[in-house]
Amino acid sequence: MKGIILAGGRGSRLYPITRGISKQLFPVYDKPMIYHPITTLMLAGVTDFLIISTPQALPTFRELLGDGGQWGVSFQYAAQGEPRGLADAFLIGEEFIGGDPVALALGDNIFHGAGLGEQLEDINRGNQGATIFGYTVADPSSFGVVEQGPDGKAISIEEKPKNPKSNLAVTGLYFYDNQVVEIAKSVEPSKRGEIEITAVNNAYLQRGQLDLKVLPRGTAWLDAGTFDGLLQAAEYVHAVEKRTGTKIACPEEVAWHIGLIDDAQVRALAADHRNEYGDYLLRLVG
Ligand code: G1P
Repeated sequence: MKGIILAGGRGSRLYPITRGISKQLFPVYDKPMIYHPITTLMLAGVTDFLIISTPQALPTFRELLGDGGQWGVSFQYAAQGEPRGLADAFLIGEEFIGGDPVALALGDNIFHGAGLGEQLEDINRGNQGATIFGYTVADPSSFGVVEQGPDGKAISIEEKPKNPKSNLAVTGLYFYDNQVVEIAKSVEPSKRGEIEITAVNNAYLQRGQLDLKVLPRGTAWLDAGTFDGLLQAAEYVHAVEKRTGTKIACPEEVAWHIGLIDDAQVRALAADHRNEYGDYLLRLVG
């Protein structure tokens, strides 16, 4: 399975701080935001990534992430000139995707919870149709909102509805089979002129091929794309890391844990961080 990380957009919800820097490069306490979607997809078994961002920001992502070899993965890069909607990722990434299934992760979505990695790995293994994740939030009106039938299956999805039919927001992590490219091509732009991911999900729903997984209450899902969301995400990561002595979204650790890099490579990466981050990496390999 291929993985696409969407790290573009104007970031206008975070003006003025995003005027000169892409939000997905912001620190969430001790790591750049984009480490979160990268490690989420790595835990799902993705090693082949396409990072999509604006032409201006792409060089900074390259600077941060390189070709991925340091973590045993591959990063390719593609520019999105104008924000044309999330589903545009499948048009930009058509060649990269080829004949494979693909996962899409939004660059500002943060997931953390016990068992999440195993759950994602299972989806990767059996992926057919589309899988989306629902998460209960107090105010769903700024998200895609999914309504469930009595059997728990999705029966409708609406993008940012004024009167949401449920409290179940659609998170920014999506798994698709290869039909997604053809579906994204056929989707008409919405009123705001974007090819909406919700339209893609509705196409799968109409085909009877949309699987909704509701994330359990113990899972944290944070959207770091607003002032409060960014601060809350940093506070969450800080609190959990200090309390447990473990790190959330540490790509070196994930790569080592799943066998993409060995002890010696972790030690070499640690030497590059003469701080608590490096100490943590050294402790991992003992
Ligand atoms: C996008 C999607 C929305 C989803 C959200 C998750 O919204 O359009 O359906 O619930 O991501 O973060 P946007 O961030 O583009 O407003």
